[in-house]
Amino acid sequence: MTDKTILRALNGEVLPTPPVWMMRQAGRYLPEYRATRAQAGDFLSLCYTPDLAAEVTLQPIRRYGFDAAILFADILLLPQALGADLWFVTGEGPRLSTTTSAADFAKLKGKDDIHETLAPVYETVGILSRELPRETTLIGFAGAPWTVATYMIAGRGTKDQGPAHALKAEDRETFSKIIDLLTVSTIEYLSKQVEAGAEVVKIFDSWAGSLKGQDFEDFAVEPARKIISEMKARFPGLPIIAFPREAGEGYIGFHEKTGADCVALDNSVTPEWGAANVQISGCVQGNLDPKHMVTGGQALIDETRHVVEAFKNGPHIFNLGHGITPDADPENVALMIETIRNG
Ligand code: CP3
Repeated sequence: MTDKTILRALNGEVLPTPPVWMMRQAGRYLPEYRATRAQAGDFLSLCYTPDLAAEVTLQPIRRYGFDAAILFADILLLPQALGADLWFVTGEGPRLSTTTSAADFAKLKGKDDIHETLAPVYETVGILSRELPRETTLIGFAGAPWTVATYMIAGRGTKDQGPAHALKAEDRETFSKIIDLLTVSTIEYLSKQVEAGAEVVKIFDSWAGSLKGQDFEDFAVEPARKIISEMKARFPGLPIIAFPREAGEGYIGFHEKTGADCVALDNSVTPEWGAANVQISGCVQGNLDPKHMVTGGQALIDETRHVVEAFKNGPHIFNLGHGITPDADPENVALMIETIRNG
């Protein structure tokens, strides 16, 4: 029996107060994050400097006492380790060299060749597993193959993932090879994180919502199912959170289809809908609208209570429906936690 509340919720326990953490909890809304990031120089240097990456992971734990810490890294480090060039343009976001043909694909490395690049990430996990408070759960993560592929194919973030949809339609073979390589590489990447001390892993499929019908089954459900079944074979009992963001009706049955212990809900679905349609299958995480971290006030208190109330009859981890934004007020995060813990 563990006293870590996140692990208890992931195990299906209904707790009187839901455990809480926040996507992007180490981020630009915190002055101490901005200071450490300035010390590192740029975002990627921060990701690849274990002492500093561990420091920013710990900052929101010290400030707020979240029940979980999420490794500080990025989903795009894996394509970089596979050989794609990666850089971040300040104020705009990530840029990658594109993978859009059989010739581009042939230049990528294999699933077992990623660890030299990613070794600093594993070192960060090791530092965290030694330094976190004993009640705090350490979450490792990776991007889901579809979401990572959308960035590799377009070379940047896109509103509608158009280039990835186009490759899927026009060169199915190359598209499928990219998905398959990401699937097997993600298993190796997450395995090293677990060996280094991650207690839970989360798979971020931020663009799952743009996959419809059979595509959702083939490229959101199936890669998640493969990753989860292999991770569970390698690490029996490892809890896994899946986040097929904006899946809508696709959330229904996602636990059963993929084997995920917990499905994270974005805020395009109501908590009542999530409880009735998804929490009936297992633990859910979510789903306060991140805008409340900017606007605060009574609406933040009311909506936080609403989310807690709607999910109180089943296993629930409180979180936002997506990452906290840089314009959020740190005081609002404190108010959210106070409302969850003290009503
Ligand atoms: O949640 C956490 O605090 C853990 C660390 C983490 C980051 N990115 C740090 C980060 C995690 C889990 C991610 C996941 C990630 N990265 C996703 C999936 C989740 C989601 O948000 O949908 C995606 C799509 C990415 C790719 C990515 N990284 C983009 C599109 C951007 C630019 C947009 C932005 O917010 O600036 C990033 C940069 C990034 N990743 C930042 C952080 C803290 C901001 C970098 C900075 O300090 O300038």
